Amino acid sequence: MTNFSNTASTILILGTGGTIAGLANGTGEGAYLAGQVPVARLLNSIKSKFPLKNIQLCNIDSCDMTEELLTEIGNQVIVGIKDPSILGLVITHGTDTLEETALFLELTSGHLAKNINKKVVLTGAMLPSDHPNADGPLNLSQAIHLLGDPTATSGIWAVMGAKRIPAIDLAKRHTSKLDAFAPEDTFHLTRNGSEDLPVPPKNHWPWVEIVTSHAGAKPEMVAYMHSIGVEGIVLAGTGGGTVHKDLAGALEAYMKDGGAVVRSSRIGQGSVSDQLANGRLAKALGAGYFNPAKARLALQLALYASQASRANPLSWQDIFAKIVNLPKTR
Ligand code: SIN
Repeated sequence: MTNFSNTASTILILGTGGTIAGLANGTGEGAYLAGQVPVARLLNSIKSKFPLKNIQLCNIDSCDMTEELLTEIGNQVIVGIKDPSILGLVITHGTDTLEETALFLELTSGHLAKNINKKVVLTGAMLPSDHPNADGPLNLSQAIHLLGDPTATSGIWAVMGAKRIPAIDLAKRHTSKLDAFAPEDTFHLTRNGSEDLPVPPKNHWPWVEIVTSHAGAKPEMVAYMHSIGVEGIVLAGTGGGTVHKDLAGALEAYMKDGGAVVRSSRIGQGSVSDQLANGRLAKALGAGYFNPAKARLALQLALYASQASRANPLSWQDIFAKIVNLPKTR
């Protein structure tokens, strides 16, 4: 293991926007716009024993996150982790898609961070920066503190509501509570293997959509998605990943034509295995503990890694199964 901690002293903060950089917009109680304040200004009130350097990658409401921006964030994080002068990185980010960016970074640079003993910490806020009870400054301070804490393991983390959460376990579970990211259970998932997946270049992200199963589900949209070039579909299934019979037929046909299908659950807690009790969609992989949004991101990365593995071809199914079938630790 290479350890750069003897020479590394600077903390790199990547600003991407979110409520942590939000400002009230005066149109009504609680109304505000995310992504208004530059990250350099958010750092003015933060005390750190390490020098802070910042890069403003974007300043957006994270509901507008794009795959192109994810590519930029992913590449910048890899450069930062490899930079011997950087102790670790903090990313300020909106909470609405924080779990997607967190999983993306875990899968594309989690092993790299562990191998060279560095931490990357995502953080955000539920209240805008000019709110009297703004939670951003404390979250940001605690994220920076985590980087300098020798008792915390290296890798990709999130800090929200005074909790340190491994990136792979992260999911927003409440629309408004300050403690919106309470982990689901007492266990943590652990990643297998030692290799990260490649960051898809801009414009090379596989097109993956989410289809929800519900009462009265209509199969036509699956055929439509197929006709417009969607390469993969994540089913946001009912219960343990079950699917309406009409939708199941359309998804079977899509798979026969080469479409990638993964089953997740719209419930938001618990896992989805490869086999359904009623045998529907028997060839679709289960998404494990990943919710539909995280399963979608994982499927995109698995499809891209498979397409990019020309010299030593790997199937997206093998890559995806390795991503989701994770050992649990307590
Ligand atoms: C956003 O995700 O950018 C807005 C909501 C938030 O940060 O809590």
